[in-house]
Amino acid sequence: MADSPTGAPPADPAVLRNMIFGFWSLRAIYVAAELGVADHLASGPRDSEELAKACQTDASALYRVLRALASVGLLSEPEPRHFALTPLGQFLRSDTPGSMRALARMLGSHWHWRTFEGILESVRTGEPAMAKMVGQPLYTYLGQNPEQEKIFDHSMTSFSSVENDAIRDAWAFLTSGTLVDVGGGRGHLLATLLNAHPGLRGILFDRPSVVANEQDAVNAHGLDARCERVGGDFFESVPSGADAYLLKYILHNWNDERTGAILRNCRRAMKPSARLLLVEQVVQPGNSPDPAKLLDLEMLVLVGGRERTEEEFRGLLADSGFSLVRVVPTRRALSIVEASPV
Ligand SMILES: C[S@@+](CC[C@H](N)C(=O)[O-])C[C@H]1O[C@@H](n2cnc3c(N)ncnc32)[C@H](O)[C@@H]1O
Repeated sequence: MADSPTGAPPADPAVLRNMIFGFWSLRAIYVAAELGVADHLASGPRDSEELAKACQTDASALYRVLRALASVGLLSEPEPRHFALTPLGQFLRSDTPGSMRALARMLGSHWHWRTFEGILESVRTGEPAMAKMVGQPLYTYLGQNPEQEKIFDHSMTSFSSVENDAIRDAWAFLTSGTLVDVGGGRGHLLATLLNAHPGLRGILFDRPSVVANEQDAVNAHGLDARCERVGGDFFESVPSGADAYLLKYILHNWNDERTGAILRNCRRAMKPSARLLLVEQVVQPGNSPDPAKLLDLEMLVLVGGRERTEEEFRGLLADSGFSLVRVVPTRRALSIVEASPV
């Protein structure tokens, strides 16, 4: 233990060591997610040998992964070498609401891992690492790698699914008229909002390859009659004339210049009474734990984007013809930044 000069309780280096060793848990979770271990355990405990056959792995190596996952609370071992999912481990299944399987697969994937090998260079230069390390920027890469694009889209859903109900509950905006979800991915947030407000119609706008697959959340909720799918590029244009434009986790992907281009395209498409709703993690002042400050590093390395403070949003909006009206917090890390055209 090291004494603190400030009189605070002494620090334990094991706390830092465990942060560093977090790498091992992450890789074990990735292996389980990739192999579909939790799906194989969905109907109850299984012997590790049997599981190894189902996952086509070396039995002893898989047992060691299962034991490690049991030690971090994702599996239990009701009898020796038989493993079961704990309530937390259930979220590694593909089919549970709030599933994190795709997120674990995406963060552990070759391209994401390779990108993060470039973090030091990103910090030295301020430039994203992905194009350099993988050869292409994120969305170009995904457009050419359909299997990875599918995992990415599902991982956005898993990342977002725990947040959509919180957004719905904090929703104090449009309850009728047309809402465009710009970069709306697989339509989960739009489906949540359309379900909550029967007078609302939706436009799901995303890259053509994303909206081409109509087996999305809108379809799963039987909402096709109230929602149009439009493929396009928000750097060129977005659908015009709607009553509100929602952008969730979009602007944080881009630097200020590119963000300005997206905002100006929204501004051009909007009638004067329309609302702009940015759903983002707003960086809080001070140094208390704030998930936005870690997500910000993902944006730096992967895409050259950033998480922003309220003042930074205010400035970007003003530069693109908007005025920030208010910031509505949700019970999750996200806030809704409302702006109107000036
Ligand atoms: C970080 S994801 C957010 C998805 C969704 N809004 C959510 O919160 O789950 C960014 C989305 O922007 C879409 N996107 C990226 N570049 C785009 C472009 N140039 N035009 C339209 N959509 C784009 C991606 O396909 C992806 O669905």
